[in-house]
Amino acid sequence: MYDTVIHGGTIFTPDSVFVGDIGISGDTIGEIKEGGGLDGDKIIDAMGKCVFPGFIDPHVHIHLPFMGTNAIDDHESASKAALVGGTTTIIEMICPGPEDEPAKAFAEWKELAEEGSCCDYTFHLAVVRFDETAKTQLRELVANEGVQSFKIFLAYKGALDISDENLHELMLMCKELGVTLTAHCENAEAIDAKQKQLIAEGKTGPEWHEPSRPRGVEAGGVQHLCEFAERTGATIYVVHTSCGEAINNAMQARERGVDVTVEAVAPHLVLDKTYAERSNFEGAKFVMSPPLRDAKEHESLWNGLASGEVLTIGTDHAPFNYSGQKDMGKDAFTLIPNGIPSIQERVDLVHTYGVCTGKIELRKMVDVCSTNVAKIFKMYPKKGALAVGSDADIVVYDPNYVGTFNHKDGLSKIDYSGFEGMQRKGRSDIVLLRGKVVAEQGAFIGECAGGKYIPRK
Ligand code: URP
Ligand code: ZN
Ligand code: ZN
Repeated sequence: MYDTVIHGGTIFTPDSVFVGDIGISGDTIGEIKEGGGLDGDKIIDAMGKCVFPGFIDPHVHIHLPFMGTNAIDDHESASKAALVGGTTTIIEMICPGPEDEPAKAFAEWKELAEEGSCCDYTFHLAVVRFDETAKTQLRELVANEGVQSFKIFLAYKGALDISDENLHELMLMCKELGVTLTAHCENAEAIDAKQKQLIAEGKTGPEWHEPSRPRGVEAGGVQHLCEFAERTGATIYVVHTSCGEAINNAMQARERGVDVTVEAVAPHLVLDKTYAERSNFEGAKFVMSPPLRDAKEHESLWNGLASGEVLTIGTDHAPFNYSGQKDMGKDAFTLIPNGIPSIQERVDLVHTYGVCTGKIELRKMVDVCSTNVAKIFKMYPKKGALAVGSDADIVVYDPNYVGTFNHKDGLSKIDYSGFEGMQRKGRSDIVLLRGKVVAEQGAFIGECAGGKYIPRK
């Protein structure tokens, strides 16, 4: 007799798909039985629905002091939004300033998550400071605290960027420690120069954000990162890739033996640069970096996902209110805080615009939004799999739900939705985190601060 049985759904295990039951004991999966027949104290009817492993978002910002302000969510609001959208584990970016010690930053972010997160969480640690103190602390965090991925920015000159000298040494450290280096790939200097030129010409609106950091700047950043990885042997992960040229540069490096993984994020897959060109400063809602591109880049990204060139889909959730935050850049697009949040919408966007349009298979959706993330970031098979012994993080998904994306349904604190009014097909009907039902049909019904830190090895 199991504590809970999920009955009669179409179950996606790591290697097959069948109709059956899942038996849950405590917080783990005890049995998976094709055809069904398991008994439980509590039965969840999943007939006609898909049953997926809990989704994992590899790229989230919650506590984010950035561009003169702070992202508007806290761990409670962001994690509730994640859970109702089917995401049971997030990887948050710890982004300290250039003066901050990595150990203090890790403790600060972890404490905030412990106090508020309703979903499970782990961290990528941004390396912004890289003196001897920082280097010692980075090693200690890897040895003692379960940190297994660092983050660097080849962007945001003077705020978060890293010198080539430090990049080289950091990659050698990553190689030695077996840590994956995730990277925002652009070219901080090129962007700075172009931004100054555009502002001097009076081109100050959000529609100039994309021209200030064109595709070549991003592709060049990927090339740069890959060349360093080729020299050092580091394992690299390119975050929020927006265009075909950037993917191609990564794939050419892969052919040369570089261990490089490419991530896409939800906004780049469904929105395009015309959103940032909307009049009356509405375009500011759609300013993120790398920027939204021409719609034809959607095809590059979906094709990359279908072919296996792109292995994960995250959100780059970075919520800044339109009113009071985005409008800091009314007179200069360079001052608009960057970010288009989608922590709640990610899975349904991928389902609606990827699966339902035939661009990717349902299995691929599970892989890129859950299983691959768990494997790449060393959480598999505890996370990312419906398998005996795995955490009972489970999504009963209704692929036939039809609706629209609306800000009013959002649990994030953000004051707008970048996907307002867009068609939606599919919904996470019931979401379980380690065996407990935490969300039902768009409502959070779990325990506040019930999330756990997932140390990685
Ligand atoms: O626009 C973005 N991506 N904002 C968050 C910071 C980052 O670059 O990931
Ligand atoms: Zn970034
Ligand atoms: Zn980001």
